[in-house]
Amino acid sequence: MTEKVLILDFGSQYTQLIARRIRELNVYSEIVPFNKVPELDDTIKAVILSGSPFSVREERALHPNLEPLIGKRPVLGICYGAQYVAQHFGGRVERSETREYGKANLATIHKPEGLMTGIEAGSQVWMSHGDTIKEIPEQFELLASTADVEVAAYGSKPGAFSEPVFCIQFHPEVYHSLDGKALLKNFVIDVAGCTGNWTPAHFIDDTVAALQAKIGDDRVLLGLSGGVDSSVAAMLLHRAIGDRLFCFFIDNGLLRKDEFEQVLKSYDGMGLNVKGIDAKQEFYDALAEISDPELKRKAIGKTFIDVFDREAKKLTNIKYLAQGTIYPDVIESVSVHGPSVTIKSHHNVGGLPAKMGLKIVEPLRFLFKDEVRRVGTELGMADHLIKRHPFPGPGLAIRILGDITPEKVDLLQKADAIYINKLREYGLYDQVWQAGTILLPVQSVGVMGDERTYEQAVALRAVNSTDGMTAEWSHLPYDFLAAVSSSIINNVKGINRVVYDISTKPPATIEWE
Ligand code: XMP
Repeated sequence: MTEKVLILDFGSQYTQLIARRIRELNVYSEIVPFNKVPELDDTIKAVILSGSPFSVREERALHPNLEPLIGKRPVLGICYGAQYVAQHFGGRVERSETREYGKANLATIHKPEGLMTGIEAGSQVWMSHGDTIKEIPEQFELLASTADVEVAAYGSKPGAFSEPVFCIQFHPEVYHSLDGKALLKNFVIDVAGCTGNWTPAHFIDDTVAALQAKIGDDRVLLGLSGGVDSSVAAMLLHRAIGDRLFCFFIDNGLLRKDEFEQVLKSYDGMGLNVKGIDAKQEFYDALAEISDPELKRKAIGKTFIDVFDREAKKLTNIKYLAQGTIYPDVIESVSVHGPSVTIKSHHNVGGLPAKMGLKIVEPLRFLFKDEVRRVGTELGMADHLIKRHPFPGPGLAIRILGDITPEKVDLLQKADAIYINKLREYGLYDQVWQAGTILLPVQSVGVMGDERTYEQAVALRAVNSTDGMTAEWSHLPYDFLAAVSSSIINNVKGINRVVYDISTKPPATIEWE
């Protein structure tokens, strides 16, 4: 039985961060929309009410039902959560004179125990709120104040409810709250009594047992991509059901240089039952003369499904299709801006299970990316697989602007291999979140010896990010960039110009298409 902390989402940008911080304490946490709270079973040890872009005073404020929670489990309200609790029990919430945003210090700790154990006056916290709590309800007492915000933290008086309620105006999940982790630990471990045993090893044992129970004697098929998610999913399933796991690794002709052979070899080394499928030509045929990025994605997705389905038919008795889906793909979050707009369609093969009539199994459905990596390490996977940069499903097709030909793929693969190898050589590979090379549809003039050239340009991209939703361009050293540039221009015939992309996301995206 995995104990967990439930986090009610009110649409704050920080909700996922709260979930991660709790998990860093080796306590499993799950995010649910504020209006879809499950019945509290024995596994749920505590409840957190998160922040929100709304104000409790607005007409469209979100109203959680606190009755089944307060007094039943320890509750921690953060920002909007804290204001909502204050208002609900008869306190007073008003608009702040100024929006309180940024670093502040807890000038006074009124009760240096319980939630505030070990947190001293002066502790730096992160504020981000437009409303402020002017009066706390009578069942509550003040815990901490900053110079500007008297009610920075408050909690229920001893015995006011069967379980304590704590409320804080600042954001303990943000790194700028220097004692934030200690505060969350006080709540989750000391107050709620979680044991903190949710480690990668624990996750593996639990998941393997659950997979065995679910799958029984059936057979499972999984498409490997070379990336960390599908590889870790495969290792978990392999541990659970051994050779009843069948894996495909499809060469779509859009992978990095020599990647198909190298990755296939490392899968082999891990004991996985993998079939490598060369479908390069089929993908090139499907992509012929297509320049539009979304049409490329669709053509690749459809071809992938065709190839996969055809190969799967050669196997008998497959009941499940396994996927490396991870938590950020499935969190049902509260929509603040209305239905989201498709910017790029990332889910390339969504139609696969329906077409094949298979049931789905997703062993990583509740993990964040960094947790997947830790599980992979615990499973004994090699670093070069675990620490691989993310690579998009449509691969180099969306890094070749314009239409795709095998010749362009070859050109890009050569330039990209130089870039990536140099990142490793200079010890920079693990310092960037993702890097890649883009083949631009422009030709420009150059000179090589006495000859005038008229060749293509590539752009180098490297970003730092935590989840790909936002990204900063990596400040790679000039001497490194110089070495990559001259190596590409001297060794890859057909490229005479190299540029470096210095755009952040947003407003740019990581990929160019
Ligand atoms: P963008 O370009 O949207 O990329 O900033 C964010 C992250 O998503 C990856 N990406 C994709 N992954 N299929 C994928 O599986 C796609 O069609 C796709 N497009 C972008 C991108 O590499 C980055 O990690």
